[in-house]
Amino acid sequence: MEQTFLMVKPDGVQRNLTGEIVNRFERKGFKLVGAKLMQISDELAKTHYGEHEDKPFFGELVGFITSGPVLAMVWEGENVIATARNMMGKTNPLEAAPGTIRGDYGVTVGKNIIHGSDSPESAQKEINLFFNDNEILSYSKQDSEWVY
Ligand code: TYD
Ligand code: MG
Repeated sequence: MEQTFLMVKPDGVQRNLTGEIVNRFERKGFKLVGAKLMQISDELAKTHYGEHEDKPFFGELVGFITSGPVLAMVWEGENVIATARNMMGKTNPLEAAPGTIRGDYGVTVGKNIIHGSDSPESAQKEINLFFNDNEILSYSKQDSEWVY
């Protein structure tokens, strides 16, 4: 089953949105298979956002993502990577549709509440960057047969 890396950013944690965000993915029908509250190091932040190192916002982005605790998670389900991106909404909350997480709770692109992997390749890379194999659980859920 497909897995993706999702992370409530420091603004989402400070604004008490972690429960709301977990709730949305649970109620959608996805399965939480890994989670930890953590403070990201400068080194981890630079690796995670490596694709953006030449962008003008890179320094601010690294500073922001390391500024407080984040909730790092691995979620599992059919097409969870693309579906989670749809549920998050567009990068800039100004363009994110109402009903999406960024559309409902974000105001600026710099503080847009949540990160989610954008492809199978980045999901694999990000899961491995943030989680050890033994931190990702394999278990069955009773409601799965009502989702699939
Ligand atoms: P990006 O990977 O383009 O967006 P997404 O998070 O939707 O995959 O950018 C990573 C983060 O960088 C984005 O969530 C917020 C920040 N960012 C800015 O601060 N300014 C910008 O102009 C862009 C494009 C992103
Ligand atoms: Mg991205």
